[in-house]
Amino acid sequence: MATATINRPRDPNTLSNYNNWRTLHTSTTLEILFDQQKLQGIVSHDLQAITDGESDEIILDSSHVLVRSILAEGKPAKWETAKRLEPYGSALKIKLDRKPKLNERIDIQIELETTESCTALQWLTPAQTSNRKHPYMFSQCQAIHARSIFPCQDTPDVKATFDFSIKSPLPVIASGLGAKENPTSPSADGSSQLYKFHQRVPIPAYLFAIASGDIATASIGPRSTVATGPDELKDCTWELEESTEKFLQAGESLVYPYAWGEYNVLVLPPSFPYGGMENPVYTFATPTIISGDRENVDVIAHELSHSWSGNLVSNASWEHFWLNEGWTTYLERRIQSIVHGGDQWRDFSAIIGWQALADSIKNFGEEHEFTKLVIDLKGKDPDDAFSSIPYEKGFNFLYYIEKLIGKEEFDKFIPHYFETWRGKSLDSYDFKTTLLDFFKSDEKVSAELAKIDWDTWFYKPGFPPKPNFDTTLVDVAYRLADKWEEFTKEPNPDFGPNKLDIDGWTANQVVVFLERVMAFKTALPVPHAHQLGSVYNLKDTRNVEVSARYYQIAMASGDQSIKDFVVKLLGQVGRMKFVRPLYRGLMKLDYETAVETFEKNKDFYHPICRGMVAKDLLGSK
Ligand code: BES
Ligand code: ZN
Repeated sequence: MATATINRPRDPNTLSNYNNWRTLHTSTTLEILFDQQKLQGIVSHDLQAITDGESDEIILDSSHVLVRSILAEGKPAKWETAKRLEPYGSALKIKLDRKPKLNERIDIQIELETTESCTALQWLTPAQTSNRKHPYMFSQCQAIHARSIFPCQDTPDVKATFDFSIKSPLPVIASGLGAKENPTSPSADGSSQLYKFHQRVPIPAYLFAIASGDIATASIGPRSTVATGPDELKDCTWELEESTEKFLQAGESLVYPYAWGEYNVLVLPPSFPYGGMENPVYTFATPTIISGDRENVDVIAHELSHSWSGNLVSNASWEHFWLNEGWTTYLERRIQSIVHGGDQWRDFSAIIGWQALADSIKNFGEEHEFTKLVIDLKGKDPDDAFSSIPYEKGFNFLYYIEKLIGKEEFDKFIPHYFETWRGKSLDSYDFKTTLLDFFKSDEKVSAELAKIDWDTWFYKPGFPPKPNFDTTLVDVAYRLADKWEEFTKEPNPDFGPNKLDIDGWTANQVVVFLERVMAFKTALPVPHAHQLGSVYNLKDTRNVEVSARYYQIAMASGDQSIKDFVVKLLGQVGRMKFVRPLYRGLMKLDYETAVETFEKNKDFYHPICRGMVAKDLLGSK
């Protein structure tokens, strides 16, 4: 008789028994019911036994899903949902009438509906969309929200191929390649039309994605399309058409050919809670990247980089999230260097990143568990750990290794790493072994690698060592900030702020300047904050990276007149990167207004953002 498996799964954030079963393929047949704001249909999983005659129960993650019925191998199955365990949901337990042998396949069909409490979907009424004509819906499954659309093995340690068969009266987009026959416009009479997609590359459940609404498309490159609202199409095309194919080719030159066929971008309504989400075939992106200056397309370089790091090679659990985001930030910045021609460009981005790292460490506190590279998430919600730390500490770790062994050597390792783990998931220890093994016959490189203090990098909280970044592109911004600092201490006859100070600057240079000002020992006096905003025209710019930072400076100086601008922006943008710090600033300036603003906008925000801001507001009361 087989003995019970005692090795525990390496992902603590799933309730599924994926050490007994592996999903090989998932089919989702769903109808989008806009009037009831729910998805309804059948999801089937083809599961394989990976233990021998050991388990007669398939346990799936499930959260706030209404299960109607379940068939196992075509016959009605016994099943139950366990008591809810926060934040992981209620495990769905499906009983089989036998214990299948190793490698046996079991087909499970689940008839289901999503509910009002679903955390993965946002539903917009026509009034909440830009042209106010049609409703809209979109999903966001990372990290552990796929389970609130359908029961599944919701862990990045399991990958399956997917079929999507989606009915909707409005155009549908999904994280697979679309069928040629898919309709391209809303149905004339509001009736449902069928859309089909296939994902032939195995993906974890968190990369399942769908969106539907009044969506139009245009070409932005030989293998790329942008999709967005009809009125936004022109601006989105302009913003993205120059760089998308260049980014793809740069990524391919660093790693290997792009694996997903098409690389497309869906620009969502403004309540999309992230900058971007790397859904395969279709990156989902915030409309704040459409800033009219092509200055925020680094988000696209980032999401595209996930096509290798994250989507082909995945972190085995969210405790090793740096393998997704640190590697992606590293590739994103290498792509920037290639496209702009020079390493000062990646260091420019790394300098902005270092500030984001410092802010995150400050928010958590230097000793906090979540400031480590490898974190403990047992019993925790990965959303609560989300910050710039895995991105920037992860980037800095790879940058450190690259500098240690030299770029030429590191560049040989990149394709090797992505080939070795292609289609698989790994943890930080696998990464270490892969790196050391690759160079083991090279004494010189091995001697360098022996200097890495792995435990410190993995487990020490707080800052990593700061590299000497190339400051070529930020020196002008630092100099201007120095002048402002002196000028606020005592009026300087040689310096009067003038709009020519920033003439010819890129928006990101202005960002660096503003971050320097934010870091002044004493906040700017109100009149100076005013002057800063008006001379450089920072209040009304379309580039939210700039305006949001300026608002922080004005709020910190105690400038009450900035409140109206902040409140306005908080009603227009739902990207958490901006929303959360702006609420933090507003809470300090005027707690009542912060609460009022949240009450007014909470239905505009995505459920994840809404929950986060609510927590932030309560936490500081
Ligand atoms: N995968 C992330 C977004 C994410 C992370 C969603 C964790 C849910 C849970 C995406 O690739 C990302 O990093 N987006 C960044 C963009 C960036 C760093 C350029 C963002 O949203 O700001
Ligand atoms: Zn990312």
